[in-house]
Amino acid sequence: MRKSIIRSTGHYIPEAVITNEELVASYNAWAERFNSDNAAAIASGDMAEQLLSSVDFIKNASGIERRHVVEKSGILNIDTMTPKIAPRAFEEVAFQAEFAMKAVTPALEKAGVSGADVDGVIVASSAQQRNFPGLACEIQEMIGSNGFSFDLTMACASALYGLHIANGMIQSGQARRMLVCSPEIMTCINVHSRRDVHFIFGDASSAILVEADEGQDGGWDVVGTHCQNKYSIALRSDFGFINAAERTVQPDYAPGLDQDGHKVFKDVVGFAPTVARTMMQDIGLEPADVRRTWLHQANIRMVDMIAKRILGRDRTEENAPGILHEYGNTSSSSVVINFEQNSEDMASGEHGVMCAFGAGYGVGAAAVRKR
Ligand code: COA
Repeated sequence: MRKSIIRSTGHYIPEAVITNEELVASYNAWAERFNSDNAAAIASGDMAEQLLSSVDFIKNASGIERRHVVEKSGILNIDTMTPKIAPRAFEEVAFQAEFAMKAVTPALEKAGVSGADVDGVIVASSAQQRNFPGLACEIQEMIGSNGFSFDLTMACASALYGLHIANGMIQSGQARRMLVCSPEIMTCINVHSRRDVHFIFGDASSAILVEADEGQDGGWDVVGTHCQNKYSIALRSDFGFINAAERTVQPDYAPGLDQDGHKVFKDVVGFAPTVARTMMQDIGLEPADVRRTWLHQANIRMVDMIAKRILGRDRTEENAPGILHEYGNTSSSSVVINFEQNSEDMASGEHGVMCAFGAGYGVGAAAVRKR
C-alpha cells in the first residue's frame, strides 16, 4: 500500500482583533438596551431578562483572551452583531474561497508545488458560503487543477476528516496529491447576542498538502488516521437553506448556534481521547513515544484533560501547546494552525498526534512522524 506524507501546511489569521473587553462592552450594551426596551414584559415575567457577560468569566471559563476576525465593526455594532461582508457579483468567487486561498497559496509555495499538480481539492470546514458550485470547485479553478474537488463538513473535526480521506485516496492509488482547505469564518455562524456562546469563536483559514510518499525530502509521514462519530445534539447550528421556507410559517424564526456547554465539555473530554488512543493502538504507537499532541482549541481546560488522556502524562505547553488565548476557537483550522506554529522544533523520527473534536460529535485523529 502506498504511504502518504504531509508535504506542507499553510494558514492565515485575519489582522483585525476583538478583545474580550471590546466584545463584552458590545454584548452588554445590547443586553441593556434589550432589557430597557422590554422592561414591562420582563417585569411581568413574560420575557426573560438578558444577563450581562463578563471579561473575567470568559478568560476563566474558556482561556480565550481575544480573537481575530474577518470584519470587526459589524460584530461590535449592536444593531447587526455579525461581520459586514459585501455580497459578491455574479462572476466573482465566494468571499470564503478567497479566504481559503490565503492559506492555500503559502502551502503550495512552501512545497514548491504548482496547483496544476494537485489531483483533488477538499474543502473541509464547518460551513460553506454557497450550496453550489462547491467552494472546492472554485479553489480547484483558482489553483489551476484539472482533477476533482468536493466540500465536506464535520464541524470542528472537518480538517482531520479531510486528512483522513486524502490519506485513504492516496493509499488506494486514487490520487497522488491532495489539498485539504479549512476556511473557517465562524463569526458568521456564531450568535453574538447569546451570552453563553458570544465569545467562543474567531476566524482563520488553513490548508494541508498531502502527497504520495515517493522518497521526496521533508514533510511528515502520515502514520495513521482515524475518525469516529457519536451522535449528539448538544452543539448545533440551525442556519441553512431551509431557513427561508421556515420563515414562511414562522416569520420571526431566528436560527442560530446553541449548545449545552457543560454537556459538550463532559462528553467530548470522554470521547475524543478514546478515538486518538484507538488509532494509536492500531498502529502500535505508545503514548510515551508521542512527543507532542496538537489539539483542537475549544476550551483550555478541555485541552488539559484531553492531552493528559492521550499522552498519559500531565499537559505542558511543550507537549500540548495552547493557542486559544490569541485566536479563540477557529473550528477545524485550529488543529492545523496549532501544528504549523508548534512543530518546527521537532526532530526527524519524532511522532506527534493531532486530535480534533466538535459537533456531531465527530472526532478526527492523525499520527505523524517528522521525516
Ligand atoms: N459571562 C458571565 N457569566 C456567564 C457567561 C458570560 N458570558 N456565560 C455563562 N455565565 C454564567 C452562567 O450563567 C453560570 O452562572 P450561575 O453559576 O450563576 O448559574 C456560570 O457562569 C457558569 O456557566 P456555565 O455555562 O456552567 O460555564 P462553564 O464553566 O461550563 O463554561 C463554556 C462555559 C461554554 C466555556 C464551557 O462549558 C465550554 O467550553 N464547553 C465546551 C463547549 C465548546 O467548546 N464547544 C465548541 C466545540 S467542542
